[in-house]
Amino acid sequence: MRGLIMNQLFNKTNIDFSTEPLFLGTGRNISRLDLNIEQHIQNQTKDALGLMWFATDFTYTEDAKDFESMDDKLKNLFLKNLKFQTLLDSIAGRTVAEVFIPITTNPQLESWWFQHGFMENNVHSETYAEIVKALPVNAKEIFDDIMINDHILSRAEAIVEKFEDTVIMNAKRLLKTDDYDLFEHKKSIALSLYALNALEAVLFKSSFITSFAFKENGIMNSTGDAVKKIQLDEIGHYAMTVNLINRLKSDPEWAAAFDAVKDEARELYKTAIEADYKWIDYLFEENVILLGIGADILKQYVDYNAKIVMTSVGQEPLVYETFNPCTWDKKYKKSSNVQTAMKEKNSANYLLGKINPDSPQEFWESLSKYLTGE
Ligand SMILES: [Fe+2]
Ligand SMILES: [Fe+2]
Repeated sequence: MRGLIMNQLFNKTNIDFSTEPLFLGTGRNISRLDLNIEQHIQNQTKDALGLMWFATDFTYTEDAKDFESMDDKLKNLFLKNLKFQTLLDSIAGRTVAEVFIPITTNPQLESWWFQHGFMENNVHSETYAEIVKALPVNAKEIFDDIMINDHILSRAEAIVEKFEDTVIMNAKRLLKTDDYDLFEHKKSIALSLYALNALEAVLFKSSFITSFAFKENGIMNSTGDAVKKIQLDEIGHYAMTVNLINRLKSDPEWAAAFDAVKDEARELYKTAIEADYKWIDYLFEENVILLGIGADILKQYVDYNAKIVMTSVGQEPLVYETFNPCTWDKKYKKSSNVQTAMKEKNSANYLLGKINPDSPQEFWESLSKYLTGE
């Protein structure tokens, strides 16, 4: 067995990384970050590190007071939302580490994944833990509930399945099993990239806007500020999925793999959006009132975002006639004077600087709508 999987972590071949593919190349050895290759990936990593922040940058004492003064329905809404975000970030971090890093054979992309995974786990998940620990609730009970709450678990099911499939394909490749098929592997990676794209830019959306609505109503301000930071990170993660999908499609064999999973990918977005609708009904089942949002508004917001996101990766949207029912969300997509503002000053539209110029025209148009909320 050992002989079979030698070289997975450190391949002794003298590899020329300037000619290696992003995924499934010869292997990995030295982190060749000295090489000036994959410039747009390097830039994106630098930008993401420039936005670096930590869970402990915020204190939640005032939020704890706000929480105490809220009625039970609002408390439930706040907690349901936070629980879902916790689950999603747990999946996101692990996906980067266990689905994509093991098959990434470009050092610059590997470096991106490490910072991406770090943010999901050590900053975003850590932030949710800090918030819940600061509230006058039993934090353990809150976190325990995530794993027994079907509303939360079922919402990410379709996405997780795609990631698990790629983990299996990665293992087959590593163990050189007889039934391993390179094209099937590429198809699976294509689906996992779509799944990551949906996770970063569709699934998080209704939760984020709910967190911001609390802040718009003058309560849970620090949580709103922290979630804004998280959203800015997620926009960068979303941008990288778009870059990778469009970039891989320029290679004929990858293009064929993406084409072969086109319908399955569309189904994935559809399932994700339907799960979002169900989730929204669950969020508002108690007829909770929070000015600025409600079940219908959130569903329109989901459609609006999904159209932009699907267009950006060359998928035909499920709904064409959409509008942004929460145009006030604009200020949460731009860095501002919250906390560590200095290093973000030049990054108001920082996503624009991160996108590979080879991205198709539809992406530029959809991105501009995504950022301006129009
Ligand atoms: Fe995250
Ligand atoms: Fe993310």
